[in-house]
Parts: sequence; C-alpha cells; structure tokens
Amino acid sequence: MSTAMQEMHTDIGLVNTIVARSSLSFINGEEGILEYVGSIDDLARNSTFEESTYLLWYRRLPSRTELSDFTANICSNYDLSETMWDMIVSLPRDASPMHALRTLVSALALEDPAVDDPSEEANMRKSMTMLAKMPALIAGFDRHRKGLDLVRPDGEATIAENFLYMLNGEKPTERMARAMDICLILHADHGFNASTFASLVTISTLSDMYSAVTTAIGTLKGPLHGGANEGVMHMLQKIDSVDSVDSFVMQKFANNEKIMGFGHRVYKAYDPRATYLKTFAEGIAQDTGNMALFEKSKKIEEVMDREVGAKGIYPNVDFYSATTYFSLGIELDLFTALFAMSRVSGWTAHCLEYLQNNRLIRPRCDYNGPHEQEYVSISLR
Ligand code: ACO
Repeated sequence: MSTAMQEMHTDIGLVNTIVARSSLSFINGEEGILEYVGSIDDLARNSTFEESTYLLWYRRLPSRTELSDFTANICSNYDLSETMWDMIVSLPRDASPMHALRTLVSALALEDPAVDDPSEEANMRKSMTMLAKMPALIAGFDRHRKGLDLVRPDGEATIAENFLYMLNGEKPTERMARAMDICLILHADHGFNASTFASLVTISTLSDMYSAVTTAIGTLKGPLHGGANEGVMHMLQKIDSVDSVDSFVMQKFANNEKIMGFGHRVYKAYDPRATYLKTFAEGIAQDTGNMALFEKSKKIEEVMDREVGAKGIYPNVDFYSATTYFSLGIELDLFTALFAMSRVSGWTAHCLEYLQNNRLIRPRCDYNGPHEQEYVSISLR
C-alpha cells in the first residue's frame, strides 16, 4: 500500500467524516437541536415555507418587500409549459409518484435554454423553477393517475395552499394549509443527509442544478431515508388496534426488522422535528377523526422506548409526519414526494453554497479483491 493510502482512514457509511463546511443547518444529535440559521421551533411557529426558503437561500430573513418580491416570483413560476402538462398525462398511471417526480424534474431541464449556465444567477433561477413547479408535478401526476382533470395552479396562493388546491380541486381550509406549510418548513433542510449529500456529489462535478435535484430525489426515495414515512403508514395500517402494538413490534424485533420512523444516524436524542410533529399530529388527528391512528403511534413509541430507548433510538421526522399527512387526506405513496417538495429548498441551498467553494467529491474505496489474476480465455472458463 502506498504511503498516501496508508494515511487514509476507512469510514464505512461516512459515519465519522465531515466532508465540507456549511452555514445552513446546525444539528446537535446528542441534545436534539436543529437550527436552519435560526431555531426550527421559531420557524415552525412564526414563519412560512416561502420565508424559510428565503432564509436558506440567502442565509438571512427577508424584509417585507424582499419577501413579497420573492413570493411573487415563486407564484409566477407555478405553471408548467404545455409540454410538461402533456408529459404528466403521458406517464403510466401505475407508476410510483417518486419515480414520476424524478422523471418530471429531470424533464424540466430539457426546456431550460440556460440549463448548463453555471452562474449563480442562473442556478438561483433554476432553483426557483424547481421549487415553484414541484407542487404542480406531484399534484398533476396524482390527478392523472386517478383519471381526474388536471387543475392549473392558483397564482395567488402560497405553495402549501396551491399544492392542496391542485391536488384536491378545491381550496384548502386555513387549518389544512397551515398544517401543510408547517410540514414543509420542518422538512426543508437537515445538514448533509443522504439526499443532500447525493446532490452535492452531482453538483461538485459541475453538472447542473436539475441533475443535482434529480439525484437527490432518487436518493430520498429509499426506505432508510425519506421513504420511511410511507413505510410508517403501511405499518400502522397492518396493526389492528392499540392492543396488538406490543406483539407486532416484538415480532419485528424477532425477525430482525427495523421499525420504520425510528432511529437516526445523527440524533441519539429525540428528533426535534418529531417533538413538534407529535403534538401537531395529535391536533390534526383529533380534528379529522384519526385518533385511533395516533394512539397506535403513541403506543409504538412507548414499546420502542422500553426496548431500545437506552440505545438512543427515538422517533424521527418520518414517524409523526406520516400520521399528519394521512390525517390531511393525502395518499400514502405521496408522502415522500411531499418531503421532496419541501427538501428541494435545502438541496438547492446546499448546492448553491457548495459551489462557492467547489471541490470535486471523490472518495476512495479500500480495495480487497485479488491482484494480478490471469486472464483466462472464455473458451477455457
Ligand atoms: N428499529 C429497530 N432498531 C433500530 C432501528 C429501528 N428503526 N434503527 C436503529 N436500530 C438499531 C439497529 O438495529 C442497531 O442495533 P445494534 O447496535 O444492536 O446492531 C442500532 O440501532 C444502530 O442502528 P444502525 O442501523 O446501525 O444505525 P444507522 O445510523 O446506520 O442507521 C437509520 C440509521 C438508517 C435511520 C436506521 O435507524 C433505520 O433504518 N431506521 C428506520 C428507517 C427510518 O425511519 N429512516 C428515516 C430516517 S430520518 C430521514 O431520513 C428523514
């Protein structure tokens, strides 16, 4: 082994490796703290998704005029080209929404004449395009697969209101829109999680923003990452009642299976987003007659605390967001797409930040295969 190789260390899964500096979101996994420049709690209580996105992109809160200009810009970008609407209705109806979203976001690049313009201004504009159009892509695909007419965006509405309007074909109540808005705020950023890191790998090659976000969507989809929220709901639906929770969870342990919505690479304390969402999910479940679901979730948490709480395994953001989305009447397989609709603000913010000091991300592997094997002709194998 060369001296340079000997100086390297192996870190499977990059558990103990810091790959770059970032001033976007601060996570203290031991104490369960998350800040996007400012406190997550403050933002969930007082901010909007639009304002939180401004905060992530510009790293400061906007003035009234700046926010109003930013919001107007988002609204003016809601609508899709006719080609994109046509593309939505050409997709197979039985496709999964995450596959559809990944394909459609990638397709947005095809109609951007400045797709490969690497300037910060162009990258900001592309970020805005994806942020504003993702609700139409997700809601449009959901209506298409149900055989419903597509609903064009409401250019006066917030991202949360506009999404629910395009999804359901009617304006949401204030409470529903605020619930959706809070979920979007809470999912907007989270340090160098797997999908954000994947987007950084792509952008570090000086590829384009659409490619970076497309990469991120594919990564978010996995059940160990954003796909867990859908998994939580499937699990809750399999459990008949609160009384069956204990045996259900114990059976999972016996089978060596993970409980979706629990555990986190960074948090060894309660995920602060889950703390917030737990109270929130309860309120919405109460309003919408879904308390049985919430009670089952609470019981799962109780059993998990008893069994693995000492290991630092607590509910993560996906656990109570599942109950929240379900109570809002959202289809299970849209949960992860909603996560993407929010996290696009963090993905793009990190890409914009990383590009200011870009260095190609290219780790090494610890080769443990054979050396100098003889090439055996195919006729002799
Ligand atoms: N259920 C049961 N046991 C668990 C769980 C779980 N959900 N999560 C971790 N553990 C146990 C592991 O079995 C392991 O036990 P051991 O030390 O006795 O072998 C220990 O806790 C450490 O777990 P790892 O999987 O090694 O931790 P890692 O940091 O690699 O993984 C992960 C974190 C992938 C999130 C894991 O906790 C998991 O699979 N959770 C379920 C899926 C999930 O909810 N993902 C969403 C995460 S949040 C997000 O991405 C938005």
